[in-house]
Amino acid sequence: MFDAAKFVESKVSELHALQGKGIIAVSGGVDSTVAAIIAQRAVGDHLQCVFVDTGLLRKGEAAQAMKNFAVLGLNAKKVDASQRFISALEGVEEPEKKRKIIGEIFIRVFEEEARACGAHWLVQGTIAPDWLESGSGARDNIKSHHNVGGLPEKFGLKLVEPLRDLYKDEVRAVGRALGLAEEFYGRQPFPGPGLAVRVLGEVTEEKLGMVREACAVVEEEIEAAARRGECARPWQYYAALLPVRSVGVQGDKRAYGWTIVVRAVDSGDALTATCSEIPHAVLKRISVRICNGLKASVNRVVFDLTDKPPGTIEWE
Ligand code: XMP
Repeated sequence: MFDAAKFVESKVSELHALQGKGIIAVSGGVDSTVAAIIAQRAVGDHLQCVFVDTGLLRKGEAAQAMKNFAVLGLNAKKVDASQRFISALEGVEEPEKKRKIIGEIFIRVFEEEARACGAHWLVQGTIAPDWLESGSGARDNIKSHHNVGGLPEKFGLKLVEPLRDLYKDEVRAVGRALGLAEEFYGRQPFPGPGLAVRVLGEVTEEKLGMVREACAVVEEEIEAAARRGECARPWQYYAALLPVRSVGVQGDKRAYGWTIVVRAVDSGDALTATCSEIPHAVLKRISVRICNGLKASVNRVVFDLTDKPPGTIEWE
C-alpha cells in the first residue's frame, strides 16, 4: 500500500542534500506542481519555477496557472515563447516530428532560463508512464513524451526526478498529502506538447484557435454534467481537430468545414484506458455549442469510442 505522507517525507529529506540553485519547469499540471512543492519544501528559495507559455495551451490556462502558483507560494516566472513554437511547427505534419520540435524548443528556452538564474540542478515531474512509454528499452517507443524526449545528453545540470517511480493515482495521493485542493490534484492530465497533438497534422494559429475553443466547450459541458450528477467526471476529456473536411449546410448554403472529435476516457495509470460513457444529451449539447461557436470553420462533431489499446488517449 502506497503511503503518500511517508513518500513526501523521504523525498523532502533526500532533496535537502542538493547544493546550489535548482530550476523546474512548471506546467500548471499535477505532476510538475507536486514535484515543485516537494523540491521547495526541501530547498526553499533555492528553487526557481519557470512557466513556459508555448502558445499551445488551453483557454485561459497561462493566467490560471500563474494565479495558482502564487496561491501555492511557488516562486514562478512566466516566459512567453509562443511565437518560437508556432514558427518552428510551420509545415510539419508528422506527429513524432512535432513532438521532437516542441521538446527541443522547450529545452532550449528552459536552458536559457537555467543559465540566467545560475541553476546547478533541474527538477522534472516525470512519472513512470512517461518513461515507460518513451522507449525505455522494455517497451516500444509509442510516443516521445516531451519531458524526456528532448533532454539533451550534455545538459550540464543534475537531473532530479522525485516522482519517477509513481503512477498518476499515486501522484494525486501525494498532492492530497501536500494539502492541495481537490480541484488541483483531481485535475485531468494535459500532454506536454499541448494542443499541438490535438491539431492533427500541421499546426496553425487558426487551427489552434478552433481546438482551443472546442476543448473549452468539452471541459465546461462535461464538468457541468458531472456536477449535476448526469455522469461521472471521466479521467480525461478533450476535443481534437481532425484533418478532415466534409460537406454540410450553413443556413441554406453549402459549407465545407473541419471535423472535431470528442474523446473521454477512464483510466488509472494512462497505460490502458476505456472509452467513457457520456450521456447522449451531453454529447448533443457539446456538438451544438461547438458548431455554433465555430460556425465559420467546423460543421461536424464526432465521438471516439476506442479504448487504449488499440488506440492511445491522445490522437497523436
Ligand atoms: P497516450 O496518448 O500516450 O497518453 O495514451 C497517455 C497520457 O499521457 C498524456 N500525454 C503526455 N503527457 N507529455 C506528457 O507529460 C507528453 O508528451 C504526453 N503525451 C501524452 C496524455 O494526455 C494521457 O494522459
